[in-house]
Amino acid sequence: MPNTWTLKDKSFEKYIISQDIQAAIDGLAQRINQEMVGKNPVFVIVLNGAFIFASDLIKKVKIDCEIAFVKLSSYAGTSSTGIVREVMGLDIDLKERTVIIIEDIVDTGLTLDSFLNTVWKMGPADVKVATCLLKPEAFKDRFPVEYVCFRIPNEFVVGYGLDYDGLGRNSEDIYKIK
Ligand code: IMP
Repeated sequence: MPNTWTLKDKSFEKYIISQDIQAAIDGLAQRINQEMVGKNPVFVIVLNGAFIFASDLIKKVKIDCEIAFVKLSSYAGTSSTGIVREVMGLDIDLKERTVIIIEDIVDTGLTLDSFLNTVWKMGPADVKVATCLLKPEAFKDRFPVEYVCFRIPNEFVVGYGLDYDGLGRNSEDIYKIK
């Protein structure tokens, strides 16, 4: 992919290259392979953005595991309250299960905070979060995030599943706004 990418009215520059993303995922997968032995975790993939990261991560997970999908959507104008809607709900029983939620990016964490409450109410044995990117300044340690590939400053990024107004998901590299 080129070093500069224009999507609609915004310009983006290459930020994290594919090789670095894959190396970080290798490290994460190794940890999961060690820490989740015998636990048969359920990976809950948060659509749309996490599909590429989840696919790359799960291909490197060598222990028994299952996958499920959920699509979350913030109510318009209420994202600051963290009220989210499940547009496509979970179709798996999480009771007594070890759950690993896979996100593309944790920004304020409000979306996941709300979904975590929903998941905990289903009686899982344990719930962990894996994310490709985390913005610590916005997140303020709202809840534990066990598996993180990259901590980044508060800048808007696209690529590798992340979009700007629907565009930009189709890149193996991550770009940041210029
Ligand atoms: P949060 O609730 O603030 O953690 O944000 C949740 C969602 O906002 C993420 O799952 C993304 O879909 C989106 N988002 C947050 N930051 C970015 C970004 O820098 N680029 C693209 N999407 C983002």
